[in-house]
Amino acid sequence: MQMNEHIVDQRLPRIIAIANQKGGVGKTTTAINLATAMAAVHKKVLVVDLDPQGNASTGFGLDHGARAINSYHVLIGETSLPRAIRGTDIPGLSVVPSGVDLSGAEIELVDMEDRFYRLKSALADDIDQYDYVLIDCPPALGLLTMNALIAAAAVLVPLQCEFFALEGISHLVHTIERIKKSFNPLLEIQGIVLTMYDQRNNLSGAVANDVRAYFGDIVYDTMIPRNVRVSEAPSHGKPVLLYDTNCAGAQAYIHLASEVLKREHRISN
Ligand SMILES: Nc1ncnc2c1ncn2[C@@H]1O[C@H](COP(=O)(O)OP(=O)(O)O)[C@@H](O)[C@H]1O
Ligand SMILES: [Mg+2]
Repeated sequence: MQMNEHIVDQRLPRIIAIANQKGGVGKTTTAINLATAMAAVHKKVLVVDLDPQGNASTGFGLDHGARAINSYHVLIGETSLPRAIRGTDIPGLSVVPSGVDLSGAEIELVDMEDRFYRLKSALADDIDQYDYVLIDCPPALGLLTMNALIAAAAVLVPLQCEFFALEGISHLVHTIERIKKSFNPLLEIQGIVLTMYDQRNNLSGAVANDVRAYFGDIVYDTMIPRNVRVSEAPSHGKPVLLYDTNCAGAQAYIHLASEVLKREHRISN
């Protein structure tokens, strides 16, 4: 019996939420490019866009037609998750897009008894072909992000190298602890990635040092540099890895993916 359970577990995709309640810290950029870098090493990856702004969907070049059925319909129970999956130009990488409807989901979910578990249930559907599910969370700690943190096995936190970085993250860590206690005891922090690192800026270096001193090994060695190619790529509907493979930002995401996968390997063994 236990053995069977183990085998079943092995087949499930690992679900990683990319979360930080602050906006503009690199969640979506990390979801898009980490997913692409994982797909480049032949992992099957599903990105779930859980932000009503739909930046991840845009970043993969999905037009409005492709978003007609989206994560809102999945959460509300109007469709199954597999039916909301859309392919991308990247082999092995698919997306559940989001749509503006999603901004109303928090209110619609409030009255549902299982409101915290909507995404978890949806992800229990037949998606065994994926190795990883990356959830791009909205910039808030509301019901959508809670659904992601309850569905996930691990959370990856992008942290922008700026002055208030540490303040926001203590709130997030507290929320993660609360979710572990009440909803999802096995949730772990996969890691913290420092984003928009600017080596010419002393503050960037100071923040990076502070974060490492405070969080130690949880922080990935890889830092994502501030790189204009990274910010240009979404307007072309492409991950930076396709837009300009050789730029510093793309290379950093390749390194990050290898660190993430190394940690995953350690966890699964
Ligand atoms: N490494 C980077 N270099 C330059 N610009 C970046 C980088 N990472 C993200 N950006 C830009 O910063 C903005 C916020 O990033 P985004 O990933 O959308 O953050 P979030 O999803 O946390 O709100 C976007 O315009 C994005 O293109
Ligand atoms: Mg975002």
